[in-house]
Amino acid sequence: MFGLTLAKKALAVTAAVAAATTTGLLGATTASAAPQPIVGGSTTTASAYPYVMQITDSSQNQFCGGTLVSATKVVTAAHCMVDETPSSVRVVGGRTYRNGTNGTVARVSKIWIHPDYSTVTRGDDVAVLTLSTSMPYTPIGYVSSSDTGVYAAGTTARILGWGTTSSNGSSSNQLRTATVPTVSNSSCSSSYGSRFVASDMVCAGYAQGGTDTCQGDSGGPFVIGGRLAGITSWGDGCAAAGSPGVYTRLTTFSSLVTTQINS
Ligand code: ARG
Repeated sequence: MFGLTLAKKALAVTAAVAAATTTGLLGATTASAAPQPIVGGSTTTASAYPYVMQITDSSQNQFCGGTLVSATKVVTAAHCMVDETPSSVRVVGGRTYRNGTNGTVARVSKIWIHPDYSTVTRGDDVAVLTLSTSMPYTPIGYVSSSDTGVYAAGTTARILGWGTTSSNGSSSNQLRTATVPTVSNSSCSSSYGSRFVASDMVCAGYAQGGTDTCQGDSGGPFVIGGRLAGITSWGDGCAAAGSPGVYTRLTTFSSLVTTQINS
């Protein structure tokens, strides 16, 4: 019933329309508490989370998120970079609103995509962008390969982005954030079967749904204990009970990312 939520290109096309959309309660007509952000959560600012980056096209239309991990390196999702080139993308820091013009715009000199990446449900959904100019914002640290304990079921993770505030809804003009509990591998396997690759993915969300990342949040940060621990990757629909969000398990790729950051 739900499509895999991967509407990156569609989002870029509708960016101008979405940029004009104000945030707020969207048709909260059902009996269940209607979530908002990302899906469920609240608005915030780029100054509150200075490591959150917009990944945009060359016209600065946001289509994915990213995380600043050093002055010139940004971690994002591989699926966000498919068909992109260094000249087709920009990274924008310090910009709370999708339709804003403030902050810092950086060109990209290199796009590294995990060499094994094929499609989100096979894992390896990680990419590192090298910026042509430094971002004047404080980066966030990221997990190391030995930090596998951070994903223990029930751990609180913070998600951030400008994505849609409901499945098939409109993007948020203002940055949003929420927290979600991590889900055990066995539970996530029950949700997604063989599409959940435990070595490469971690799931998070409430059993009842209601809070989740959604289209346009991909590539953005999944933060545990003040460190980047994941990358928004995929899910069936958004915020539905029994279909948690799926994030790239960064501990698995930490060494590879470090190699890129030092390159
Ligand atoms: N793939 C989506 C994107 O490109 C992110 C989807 C996240 N979905 C979810 N249910 N958590 O923006």
